[in-house]
Amino acid sequence: MSETVSQSQLNSTLGSGLDVDAVRRDFPILDIQVGKKPLVYLDSAATAQKPQQVTDTIQRYYMMQNANIHRGVHYLSQSATDAYEESRRKIATFFNAATPDEIVFVRGTTEAINLVAQTWGRTNIKKDDEILISELEHHANIVPWQILCEEKGARLKVIPIDDRGRLKLDAFEKLLTSATRLLAITHISNAIGTVNPIREMIRRAHALDIPVLIDGAQSAPHLPIDLQALDCDFYVCSGHKLYGPTGIGILYAKYTILKSMPPYQGGGDMIQTVTFEKTTYKAPPERFEAGTPNIAGVVGLGAAIDYVQNLGRDRIARHETDLIAYAEDRLATVPGLKLIGSPETRAGALSFVIDGAHPHDIGTILDSEGIAIRAGHHCAQPLMRRLGLPSTARASFACYNTHEEIDALEKAARKVQKLFN
Ligand code: ALA
Repeated sequence: MSETVSQSQLNSTLGSGLDVDAVRRDFPILDIQVGKKPLVYLDSAATAQKPQQVTDTIQRYYMMQNANIHRGVHYLSQSATDAYEESRRKIATFFNAATPDEIVFVRGTTEAINLVAQTWGRTNIKKDDEILISELEHHANIVPWQILCEEKGARLKVIPIDDRGRLKLDAFEKLLTSATRLLAITHISNAIGTVNPIREMIRRAHALDIPVLIDGAQSAPHLPIDLQALDCDFYVCSGHKLYGPTGIGILYAKYTILKSMPPYQGGGDMIQTVTFEKTTYKAPPERFEAGTPNIAGVVGLGAAIDYVQNLGRDRIARHETDLIAYAEDRLATVPGLKLIGSPETRAGALSFVIDGAHPHDIGTILDSEGIAIRAGHHCAQPLMRRLGLPSTARASFACYNTHEEIDALEKAARKVQKLFN
């Protein structure tokens, strides 16, 4: 590495205010070797690594606190319930929801969107109504709406992108019509990293009384999110991309909307009274949390939120913005490598292809260098079709990544280019 680069790296690290060496010490997995190479983990858009603060919390929960919640009168049940509800409060504060009752625990982003489609959607979407999504969506924000549209005879409309991977906002304006009943849009593309101007899009949709769902799977880990300022009606995200455990995520909805929604699943803990003739339901959020939930997951997610708060979301965002810019610059110097899309604002991930090399070959060769990336269609097949590509190689970034790791990526990409040309 040249001295010039080292100096600029030093400046940027100091500029972000994030002590990345200290951060890395919190993630023991980052010290493993892949073969004889140190792990370079550039697949955090698929799932982020977990700091020891999170794994310790989960272990402590199972060792010292484990019991079922909301049911027992005994000490442990009360202690587990307190920990579970404390996490809900932390998450509400973290995202600036108006009240913790607006936070529903689900398995992840996918389940959250399916919940909205099957409850709010089945109640509010009728024949010939339109649901507006975009070409940047993950399958999780396409398929649940397709299922609903098929059932109801409604139509799915799609905001196109331009060749730089940005939403065409003039087309968006035209697609917002008196038939539009919902705008369901990703905040950040998981495949190419485009950050959508959601604040303005929410404002325009609301001007026509159209509610808005934001898929925050890729934004919650990277950007400070203020739900009351955004004013979206629904926001969904996964814990495991936010340094928390897998199998836990959140659905946020404005309380008046949540209150109007029928249950998603029936079972224990979501009812007030049950008779064979009639059942009455609890108010949200419990109405949507049937059965024993992922208590350890919720507690672990609370620890992840504490962790991110302590690092500082602005600091993380500055560090990652700097990493992405550095990665774009370095990869652009590799002959035959093409970055996919060139949005003004990119966060979290970038995609590329290399002339002559299949993205799966890129992934395999990078793996032999200890570098973990994702290769494939990234659960965004319509986007790949729009880009005229079967798949891409994707590198994604988190608070623990370094400029040296991007240098390793560049070096390995050069190796791929030489092997295939
Ligand atoms: N949705 C995750 C990704 O984009 C799994 O990799």
